[in-house]
Amino acid sequence: MLALCLCKEWSPLLKRQTRKPTHMKHILERLEERRENARLGGGKARIAAQHQRGKLTARERIDLLMDHNSFEEFDMFVQHRATDFGMEKSHVSGDGVVCGWGTVNGRVVFVFAKDFTVFGGSLSETHAQKITKIQDMALKNRAPIIGLFDAGGARIQEGVAALGGYGEVFQRNVLASGVIPQISLIMGPCAGGDVYSPAMTDFIFMVRDTSYMFVTGPDVVKTVTNETVSAEELGGASIHTTKSSIADRAYDNDVEALLQMRRLIDFLPASNTAELPEWPSFDNGERIDMSLDTIVPESPNKPYDMHELIAKIVDEGDFFEIQEAHAKNILTGFARVEGRTVGIVANQPMVLAGVLDSDASRKAARFVRFCDCFNIPILTLVDVPGFLPGTAQEYGGLIKHGAKLLFAYAEATVPKVTIITRKAFGGAYDVMASKHLRGDVNYAWPTAQIAVMGAKGAVEIIFRADIGDAEKIAARTKEYEERFLSPFVAAERGYIDEVIMPHSTRRRVARALAMLRGKSLENPWKKHDNIPL
Ligand code: HXC
Repeated sequence: MLALCLCKEWSPLLKRQTRKPTHMKHILERLEERRENARLGGGKARIAAQHQRGKLTARERIDLLMDHNSFEEFDMFVQHRATDFGMEKSHVSGDGVVCGWGTVNGRVVFVFAKDFTVFGGSLSETHAQKITKIQDMALKNRAPIIGLFDAGGARIQEGVAALGGYGEVFQRNVLASGVIPQISLIMGPCAGGDVYSPAMTDFIFMVRDTSYMFVTGPDVVKTVTNETVSAEELGGASIHTTKSSIADRAYDNDVEALLQMRRLIDFLPASNTAELPEWPSFDNGERIDMSLDTIVPESPNKPYDMHELIAKIVDEGDFFEIQEAHAKNILTGFARVEGRTVGIVANQPMVLAGVLDSDASRKAARFVRFCDCFNIPILTLVDVPGFLPGTAQEYGGLIKHGAKLLFAYAEATVPKVTIITRKAFGGAYDVMASKHLRGDVNYAWPTAQIAVMGAKGAVEIIFRADIGDAEKIAARTKEYEERFLSPFVAAERGYIDEVIMPHSTRRRVARALAMLRGKSLENPWKKHDNIPL
């Protein structure tokens, strides 16, 4: 239709142009005018309002996200076709979303960015068609796709045509899941139909103070539940990065968020069949770090910071943490070893002694599955006293949530390297990428304690009769600690491949990952598994 219009409009010009070459200049100028007009989106006043709120425009965001001059825009002249509620009188080129592709550090990435200055970035039938075109291209060409959200949901004037558009986007999100990385960055309102596409992508990031996400806004909440709540309290970045865990991370402003997306893309392969990206590393894989020999405190109840340990093992200490503000008792994120991406899952003794609870299990399970989808090796650092007891956990479904992590590790076929630094107790020992769940290389530090439980609990159960006798209990405890609270019982059985010096951990990990590059392992054919959701 658009092509037809252009032909009709331009054909007289083209005829004249053959007679008078100066008309060519006019044609080119008209194209530039149309482009200029489209680039203005909803107009200067709305752009100024966008800036006043501390937000960049869709095109400014794309410019920051992509390599300089690499962005190729598609469908700049698309307009909606609605005729209800006076919409036939109101057309804006682009229809509220800027779509196309470009490169991030030289690698192809597809992008769509909602333009809040045009009908509040709301989704119409044609707006959805622009997005689905880019989704299809990203999938066909096996490259990541990033969506920048800043919108008021379904274009109210379009009714079911808008709802249909959302459905088309959702379907493509699902088909692309596990094939290409899909990333959503929420940079303004994101409500109603807009929330479910991000929810089905691999990662959601938010901008503090200017973005919020909810299915229904404060007004509807007030009507239905009589709760009074602000947009920020209902779905701001602090809520979604801590309480709901919908968002994987938040940033202070648009610029920081977009630059961090570039950093994230550098860690990710383009698809589930692409090679891992490999960047030059200035950090020797053989590097030893003597301070690791003393990082674990002598007292088993004293914490240490697992972040520090990670920083000492990975290339240049560079760790892109996912869900850093949620379930802090487990750390998940991307790093590199010898220039190649590795996914890290690590218990954090600084928070709840690194215990596994429902939130930590879900958080880590999702991360493990992401890594497995995209062939990213997993390095697991274990210091876990077990699963968290209590009614709150049991009523909250700890069994099913814990099983998610167990399931995720067990089904993963990527290279799995595990280091037990201190405690590996009970079911949590099994879960954390143990040998029994097809861990490829399982090392323990000499400080490791691998057992069903800690000494106090164990002695109180198996020597219940001696409980009144302090001397006997002390002797039993000592006996238990000496026999079981070491890595050697597990090493004697081959559950641990080697007890290693902490200072050699980076070298050991680098060598293990290099050895595992050719790993080939397949699960039995199935339509898909039935992970305990
Ligand atoms: C059409 C919309 C729109 C929408 C905003 N606009 N949302 N136009 N459809 N959904 C337009 C406004 O008319 C306005 O146009 C411009 O965008 C900016 O909006 P403001 O309200 O002036 O901005 P602000 O005060 O910042 O408020 C932003 C907002 C609010 C919170 C997003 O606009 C809002 O509540 N919009 C409606 C949200 C909503 O209920 N959407 C439908 C959800 S239901 P002018 O011309 O004045 O600049 C849904 C179902 C799909 O999405 C389910 C699929 C599964």
